[in-house]
Amino acid sequence: MQTIALLPGDGIGPEIIDEAVKVLKAVEAKYDLKFQFKKSLVGGASADIYGTPLTEDTVALCKDCDAILFGAVGGPKWDKLPKEFRPEQAILGLRKSLGLYANLRSVILFNALSDASPIKKEIIGEELDIMIVRELTGGLYFGKPKGIERTHDKTRAFDTMEYTDEEIKRVARIAFETAQRRQKRLTSVDKANVLETSRLWRTIVTDMAADYPDVKLCHMYVDNCSMQLVLNPGQFDVILTENTFGDILSDEASVLTGSIGMLPSASIGDGKPYLYEPIHGSAPDIAGSGKANPIACILSVAMMLEYSFGAKDAASAIKNAVERALNEGYRTFDIQVGAKKVVSTSEMGDIIVENL
Ligand code: NAI
Ligand code: MG
Repeated sequence: MQTIALLPGDGIGPEIIDEAVKVLKAVEAKYDLKFQFKKSLVGGASADIYGTPLTEDTVALCKDCDAILFGAVGGPKWDKLPKEFRPEQAILGLRKSLGLYANLRSVILFNALSDASPIKKEIIGEELDIMIVRELTGGLYFGKPKGIERTHDKTRAFDTMEYTDEEIKRVARIAFETAQRRQKRLTSVDKANVLETSRLWRTIVTDMAADYPDVKLCHMYVDNCSMQLVLNPGQFDVILTENTFGDILSDEASVLTGSIGMLPSASIGDGKPYLYEPIHGSAPDIAGSGKANPIACILSVAMMLEYSFGAKDAASAIKNAVERALNEGYRTFDIQVGAKKVVSTSEMGDIIVENL
């Protein structure tokens, strides 16, 4: 029996989590798995009731589970709250309290969606399947000092980009191991021509390569990488990068797949539970309209089955079921190119379950 914490959150979060749970229930019987679900409020939904986006009870519930499925948090209703009460603190707080330092984002362009990608088929080539491994708990977003100083004649704001050797090693290890399970090509992305942190990053990753002789390592500057993702995305297998660069590059890469509603992610650390979530936000503009694409959340469940439960067969079955639904021409509202039939969030969930 595996226990799964369900944290639907705000906006379309609850809608897509419902579809992901349908899929989990459908694979249970077929693959001899047994799940127990524990639900909790996070984000604005939690702030409304408990006055905080992430309660200690929710953190304790998550620590007690084998894996976490997170929907999305945030929305205009809570935008004016002071920083510590804002919904986004829920995901930041969870990553921190669970020690989730590596974020794996799977960027796959399904064949049926190749016309929905802004990049032409000839440029993409046979296949687009990139895994971005982004460092998640260090760098510019967390380095100290950080702040803003006002004097009579000027205002100065500052952030600190900071990495220790251990922080770099542990995320690089995950990237090398991920590459070993895939095409064995790793691109480490940095800005070593300018940044001290990047020079340390490059030295450590280069030294570690000796432990992974089967992996072909190359280094790329982040500005070039952002260009290469558009010019020749097929060259990438696994991309390893620090927090800020990874945030930006993975949003850029998401566009290649046709819609942000297609991209799943896993946040992992040294012990369980890992956290799985679609990369998109709570999409308040379409919440409650049945227009949300549940595929990113359903593919996040596939990552959960593979990474947390070692159920590779069930994970591939889900990916195949998604592919079949798309090949049959079913689309949600965000991807209408090549659509034979545009369906609602829950209809898409049902079709994927039928295809399992
Ligand atoms: P967003 O990802 O929620 O939406 C961007 C655009 O993509 C919108 O037009 C939305 O309708 C569309 N979209 C997103 N997911 C979709 C899906 N599954 N199906 C169809 N269309 C989809 O980003 P935005 O608008 O910048 O942020 C909205 C709220 O979400 C904010 O409060 C933000 O802070 C929060 N957010 C939360 C995240 C999380 O919970 N991990 C991540 C990113 C943003
Ligand atoms: Mg982002």
